[in-house]
Amino acid sequence: MRYGAGPEVLRNLSFELKPGSFHFLTGASGAGKSTLLKLMYLAHRPTRGVITLFDRNAAALDRDELPEVRRRVGVVFQEFRLLDHLSTFDNVALPLRVNHVEETLVKRHVSELLNWVGLEDQQNAAPPTLSGGQKQRAAIARAVIGRPDLLLADEPTGNVDDAIAVRLLYLFEELHRMGATVVIATHNRSLVERFGHPVMRLRDGGLTVEDRPDWPDSETGPAARPGTQQKARQADAGGQARTFRRSIEDALGQSR
Ligand SMILES: Nc1ncnc2c1ncn2[C@@H]1O[C@H](COP(=O)(O)OP(=O)(O)O)[C@@H](O)[C@H]1O
Ligand SMILES: [Mg+2]
Repeated sequence: MRYGAGPEVLRNLSFELKPGSFHFLTGASGAGKSTLLKLMYLAHRPTRGVITLFDRNAAALDRDELPEVRRRVGVVFQEFRLLDHLSTFDNVALPLRVNHVEETLVKRHVSELLNWVGLEDQQNAAPPTLSGGQKQRAAIARAVIGRPDLLLADEPTGNVDDAIAVRLLYLFEELHRMGATVVIATHNRSLVERFGHPVMRLRDGGLTVEDRPDWPDSETGPAARPGTQQKARQADAGGQARTFRRSIEDALGQSR
C-alpha cells in the first residue's frame, strides 16, 4: 500500500483473521496502523494485493454490495467522525435506525449503552460541544451498538484515562464474547497486557503476529506497568463489568 507516489507504507502483508478472534494492533506512530484498518474497512484500495472480507474479494464487490458489507463492520475512527448536526443520542442510534430497528428498542439500547460509556448526561448534546474523551466514547458506542461481525477501533482509548479505558475494553470483550472479530489499534501496553489477546505488530512496513507480545522498550517508555492504585481501579472496573454485563447484553443483545 502506498499513498500517491510516496513510499510503500505496508508491503507483503499476508494474514487471516479467524472469525471470532481478538487482536491488538500496535506499532510506532506512522507505522501504518490506521492505514491497515482503513484497508480492512475497504476505505482504501491496496496498491497491489488482494483483500478478502467475509469470504468476498473486496475488489470484486460492486457499488451496491459495498454498503452491505460495510454494515457488518463497526469502526471507531481515530478522528471519531461523529455527525455534528445530530445529537449524541442520534449519532449512536444511527446504525440501529439504518437497520430499521423498532424505535422503542432503539431508545432502550441507546440509553443503556450511553449509560455504560458514561454519557447519560450528554444524550442531547451536539458532538462539537463534547470533550475529546466524550466524543471518543460516543464513537465507540456507535461502533458497537449494531453488533457488527467485525469491529475495528483506531486507538479508541487514546483520549480517556485508564479506568475508563478498561471499562471501554469490556465493551469490546463483550462483543467478542458474542462472536465478533475484533481488532483494536492501541499504544497502551498495560491494556494489552491486562486483556492478554494476541498482538499484531507493524514495523518497517511488515506485520508480525505474537501470541505473547514481546515489547521493544523504544515503543512504550518506562512507566507502562500498572501500579497498585491502577490495579485496584482495574479490579473495580472488572466488578462493574460483571454488574453491568446484563445491561451491555441488553444494549447489544437484541439489536438485530
Ligand atoms: N492520506 C495520506 N496521504 C499520504 N500519506 C499518508 C496518508 N495517510 C497516512 N500516510 C502516511 O502513511 C504512513 C502510515 O500512517 P498511518 O497509517 O496513519 O500510521 P499510524 O496509524 O500507525 O500512526 C505515515 O508515513 C503517514 O505519513
Ligand atoms: Mg493512526
